Amino acid sequence: MTSIHIVPKINQIELQPRGEYSLGPESLLCFPADCPRAGRLLMKMTGLKTQTASDPGGAIRLEFDQQVQQDEGYVLTIDAAGVLIRAKSDRGLFYGVQSLRQLLPASIETTGIVAPVVLPYMRIEDAPRFAYRGFMLDEARHFFGMQAVKRVLDLLALQKLNKFHWHLSDHQGWRIEIKKYPKLTEIGSRRSKTQRNGLLALKAVYDHQEVSGFYTQAQIREIVAYAADNFIDVIPEIDLPGHSTAALAAYPELSCDGMAVEVGVDVGLASFYSLPKLVCAGKEASFTFLQNVLDELIELFPARTIHLGSDEAGKKVWQNCPDCQARIKEQGLKDENELQDYFINRLARHVFDQGCAVIGWNDGLFAHSDDRIIIQNWFHAYKETIQKIKAGQKAIMSPMASYYLNIPFRVSSLKQSYLYEPHVPELTEKEAHNILGVEAPYWTEFVNNRAKLEWGMFPRLLAISETAWTERNNKNYEDFENRLAVLELRLDQLGVSHTSPLCYKKYRQFSNPLSFIFGLMDDPDREFKAYTKSA
Ligand code: ACM
Ligand code: ZN
Repeated sequence: MTSIHIVPKINQIELQPRGEYSLGPESLLCFPADCPRAGRLLMKMTGLKTQTASDPGGAIRLEFDQQVQQDEGYVLTIDAAGVLIRAKSDRGLFYGVQSLRQLLPASIETTGIVAPVVLPYMRIEDAPRFAYRGFMLDEARHFFGMQAVKRVLDLLALQKLNKFHWHLSDHQGWRIEIKKYPKLTEIGSRRSKTQRNGLLALKAVYDHQEVSGFYTQAQIREIVAYAADNFIDVIPEIDLPGHSTAALAAYPELSCDGMAVEVGVDVGLASFYSLPKLVCAGKEASFTFLQNVLDELIELFPARTIHLGSDEAGKKVWQNCPDCQARIKEQGLKDENELQDYFINRLARHVFDQGCAVIGWNDGLFAHSDDRIIIQNWFHAYKETIQKIKAGQKAIMSPMASYYLNIPFRVSSLKQSYLYEPHVPELTEKEAHNILGVEAPYWTEFVNNRAKLEWGMFPRLLAISETAWTERNNKNYEDFENRLAVLELRLDQLGVSHTSPLCYKKYRQFSNPLSFIFGLMDDPDREFKAYTKSA
């Protein structure tokens, strides 16, 4: 029997025992005027013309149908009448067209349909498991630019992902124009050098190439519109109160000691050997500044969701700051963790008051954090996160060991990414409904060009997309690897750099904590160097 090689896996498919429909370069398309995005994708990928009024029918038809169960769902049938995709909305039709794309030969990616293609009769009924299906790109560590980001968005749509979390600020760079504070980009978007060896290397080694770049607000609007055309919401992250050295390099008066500081050049936490700085939670000026920044973000990002970071904020500097200590007294707080809750809650409230949602990394949301904040679970404080989810708080799962795209396969296998189950056993079925979905973060300290960027995304992101879209009982790792082999041909046609199967098949075993630690000390490019030659 013919097998269907779609990733993420279709939830329900019935292949008819006999019957085939033939599409060719003469076939016509037919879709309503009010599904512009699905229609555009269909025309682009097939290269076929739309029918004219005098020539009804159409070999591939898109139709609205309010009987289709879910907003993002679709029904695709192939029979003697041709290919018909039905959905409630343009969005559902768009996902139906993405599935049809993978039923067609990989060559359509470069040529469209130029020769007859025979499709078996079938009926597909499909809809996503999770509403939040995300990917995070860190452009603070390296800047990729408009064209690379648009291509990433195309590749997210291919996998039916619908959230693009854009990490736009960190110690190592500030990448978004803020009209009110131009120094954020004039100063914060440039650094003189970059650490080139592993996170836990005992002695940092640098290259001495400048890294710079940022998006103007006009460019941000263009990317947001491009994402919307692909049914992708863009969620900006301004990481606070830690991971903020680039902002403090531009406006040192926002830090506790007010001293000049350079944009970060080291991996991760800016410098393993010095105390990371934080935005001062004692000075009123910090809040005025950040609320003004947030107002510009809210204006720019129509998805109306802002990520405030909150991760890895070491509190030493707050302990030594008279303003922060005065704030603790004034507010009757117990310690610096409660001060962080005060800080994040106050900014979150400013965002909530404008009808927007807030996301924060779990390790920076302590006992008194606002329970309207969506928790992005990655590491540390797992028990506390689970307690909050049980109590009704919403969450997104991004477990570091399985979902970080920058982690090499020798440290964490593709299978490990695939098998992670977001409905963790600690939660009842009802409690698990508070999990909105999953997201794969991609940290780019060692990712400095487009080939490497895509190489890290594929195929691990596809494994995660399948968890985002496909019902748990429909998943199977061996079957995924088989379908992946076919999708890789499409990635090749698209010119997408992806990890060779030689690499991810070599490291099938699950990681252990020791390999994790040693992996972080190792040459971060080892797999890239070894397997781009043999790919
Ligand atoms: C993180 O990886 N610091 C969220
Ligand atoms: Zn302070």
